[in-house]
Amino acid sequence: MLLQFPKQIHGGPFPPKETSMRVKELEEQLSSTHTSVICGFNQLLDLKDLNTGVHSTRLAEWGMRVAQELGVDDGCLRDIEIAAVVHDIGKIGVPDAILKKPGKLTDDERALMNKHPEYGWGVLRLFPALERASLFTLHHHESFDGAGYPGKLKATEIPIGSRIVTVIDSFDAMISNRPYRQGLPVEEAKRRLVQCSGTQFDPAVIQCFLKIVDTELPAIYEATGTSASVAL
Ligand SMILES: [Fe+2]
Repeated sequence: MLLQFPKQIHGGPFPPKETSMRVKELEEQLSSTHTSVICGFNQLLDLKDLNTGVHSTRLAEWGMRVAQELGVDDGCLRDIEIAAVVHDIGKIGVPDAILKKPGKLTDDERALMNKHPEYGWGVLRLFPALERASLFTLHHHESFDGAGYPGKLKATEIPIGSRIVTVIDSFDAMISNRPYRQGLPVEEAKRRLVQCSGTQFDPAVIQCFLKIVDTELPAIYEATGTSASVAL
């Protein structure tokens, strides 16, 4: 046995009932604090015009469903949900002139933009409960073939949460309307994901994700209060 429990000095249940209640209360408070922190980060993304509530909610929903379908262990699900929502938090550290530049970025601007996973990791890792979500954030621009950044990780070296986030974020971005362009039809977005399966994306995640798109897309839009025709 790894844990050595102290000897019970007094009679009665151990730990005492009051202690169990207090622990439960503290756990609930901690969980509520975590949720508030995530909501706060999401508000920051909104303020910086990097996200919309609907986009975040949809990504959280996609992330959970894909992770469950892939059989990711329960302890990891919440971290994937969190990373799905806040993975671009580091863009707050990128100047607006670069973030909102309508034209092509210069090499220097691109280099600065590509720092956002590290910036995000630097913030999230300060919260002990977000350690794993911070790693998923750090690696969400890695590519399955090793051509991504910042670590040039390959295949299963890339954490599963990051491999999921990159697929769902790309899909949601493709089908979403933007002020400067119309979102792609779902079938075209699926075709583009398949085209990059094995290079940018994990084929196992793509296979699982496409199955979910085919069977659960309307349910996901309903759960997040949007419709496929008005993605954003
Ligand atoms: Fe990103």
